[in-house]
Amino acid sequence: PIKVIYDTDPGIDDAMALLFLEYAPSIDLVGITTVLGNASIDTTTRNALYMKQLFNLAAPVARGAGRPLAVPMVEEPHYIHGHNGLGDVPIPETLSVKEHELPAHRFIIDMVRKHPHEIVIVAVGRMTNLALALREDPGIAELVKEVVIMGGAFGFYGHSGNVTPVAEANIIGDPHAADEMFAAKWPVVAVGLDVTQECVMTTAYMEQLRDKGGKAGQFCWDISRFYEDFYRRATGIDGIFVHDSSAVAYLIDPSLFTTRSGPIKVVTEGIAIGQTIQKSALRSFPPSAWDGLPDQKICTAVDGQRFLDLYFDTIVKGAAE
Ligand code: BDR
Ligand code: CA
Repeated sequence: PIKVIYDTDPGIDDAMALLFLEYAPSIDLVGITTVLGNASIDTTTRNALYMKQLFNLAAPVARGAGRPLAVPMVEEPHYIHGHNGLGDVPIPETLSVKEHELPAHRFIIDMVRKHPHEIVIVAVGRMTNLALALREDPGIAELVKEVVIMGGAFGFYGHSGNVTPVAEANIIGDPHAADEMFAAKWPVVAVGLDVTQECVMTTAYMEQLRDKGGKAGQFCWDISRFYEDFYRRATGIDGIFVHDSSAVAYLIDPSLFTTRSGPIKVVTEGIAIGQTIQKSALRSFPPSAWDGLPDQKICTAVDGQRFLDLYFDTIVKGAAE
């Protein structure tokens, strides 16, 4: 199995993706690192620990960055993931599981050094922990097998940003970190809104998951009620976008996606702050801001139905074990 560190800000879709990782037979989840985003770092870390306790996850939870590298901190509004980050389902006051002693970026460095060329980082929150790890130990870039992120919006299918007309939440939340992450010489795959908004888990799908997916299915149902309401009001869709699980799906079965390669820059100031721009081969007049940057992949299309089936089957089989 592939050794995965899951860098996350749970978060409703983050929690659903965590179960996907845990129950995918081809994945060995070796660590969970937390970051601010859908809620404060205290809340996202508490939520990761809660999931560890509830589902008996073996992976340790290491607490990460509580603020972005340079931009002022903006927490995601509570009307998307709820005040407690998990759709306001009740969470016990005290938990029996404890945090790892290392901060997230040090945990990442240690694991990568311990398992050279074996670790895949799946990052579905702000890229702050990844940037901090790179700043402290740039040598890890060539020792990481792959970085798969949920983040960005590249304009395919006419999809654009979800925070501003051009920027997606995980990138605008810490644009400098994202820019450093894309510039590093490790292979990155960005699974952005272009494809995550092509995949909707409808209410009917969620009912099936609840009824057949055991404790995990019931949990996904419970936490997603709030999220579904938000999407219904905000976009009119009957169901939810499952952003973060799309990054996990790429890792399990890349054939679900079509990709395009090229260097990527993130806009770090001004009206387009947080925009992700990949240079295409057709428009390559040097000198440009992309010169010298490594090619990274973005996802431009997805087989949504096959993705939804893969998620469903993985949770249902995992629940049966
Ligand atoms: C991303 O932002 C968060 O709300 C989700 O968890 C996802 O990672 C989507 O833009
Ligand atoms: Ca997330």
